[in-house]
Amino acid sequence: MYDIVENINRLKREKKAVILAHCYQPVEIDLVADYVGDSLYLSQVASKTDAEIIVFAGVYFMAQTAKILSPNKKVLLPQIEAGCRMADMINYRQLMEFKAKNPDTPIVCYVNSTAEVKSECDLCVTSSNAVQVVKSIGAKKILFVPDTYLGKWVEKQLGNVEIITYPGFCPTHLQIRPDDINQAKAQYPDALVLAHPECHMSVSEIADYVGSTTGIMKFAKESKNKSFIIATEQGVIDRLKRDYPEKEFIPVKNDIICPNMKMTSLEDILNVLENETNEIFVDEEIAKKAVKCINAMLEVSV
Ligand code: 13P
Ligand code: SF4
Repeated sequence: MYDIVENINRLKREKKAVILAHCYQPVEIDLVADYVGDSLYLSQVASKTDAEIIVFAGVYFMAQTAKILSPNKKVLLPQIEAGCRMADMINYRQLMEFKAKNPDTPIVCYVNSTAEVKSECDLCVTSSNAVQVVKSIGAKKILFVPDTYLGKWVEKQLGNVEIITYPGFCPTHLQIRPDDINQAKAQYPDALVLAHPECHMSVSEIADYVGSTTGIMKFAKESKNKSFIIATEQGVIDRLKRDYPEKEFIPVKNDIICPNMKMTSLEDILNVLENETNEIFVDEEIAKKAVKCINAMLEVSV
């Protein structure tokens, strides 16, 4: 392992490369990552970096978003097969049908979507800024794709905006059920429940805190509580345990794992850096339209 890390670090210096890693990646990826965080943070980094190569340890839509934000940089995805099952639930045709059924209504997309979908939406959100960004539109009614649960959660937080959601979901977060929360709470009555808004509403409703990956990590760091039930992907728990060994982090159930996020290995990162393979390209016309929707989000989130 030491050799691989050394080689990656050498190549990073030689090639002016930067490695971005999502918190759902296998935890050892942090050994070589320059930036680790949630979708919003990583897209902000991708839009500002002066590196020549961005290696995105994450899933396809994240690398694609980085390429849209930094079209002159080489963006490499260590595992080209690593997609997002939620993003794949809506394609261009399905989006156009959804829009046609609800004409003249602003449409917001979760960043977990393809470039084609983003190119036909007004505004993009991530889980950490969705409430703030949707509020900034000032509309009484909006369309939201593809995550129905994030959309419904935002609707509940705002209280005065009707959100018509597309029926997409995250299969990883949907494995978590209210019964799992209740059982964990019975076993650890002093623990606070921290959940990601991709969870089913019935889970978010009984959580003590709902927020993005970074939001959950920040809450756990700053809370005076010592024990937490974590209702999101395992990578968050692994990092919390590593960073705050004095606190207790209990997975709400075993194997809440995004299989795509877990495809990446240090060997894959070394391989793409060495050979500059798995480069991400986005059609120029699509990218030109999609960047507007992403930049509109970044402007609201500064
Ligand atoms: P965040 O990084 O915004 O918390 O989203 C989680 C996720 O599912 C990434 O695919
Ligand atoms: Fe997509 Fe869910 Fe995996 Fe996130 S955790 S990348 S939403 S499938």
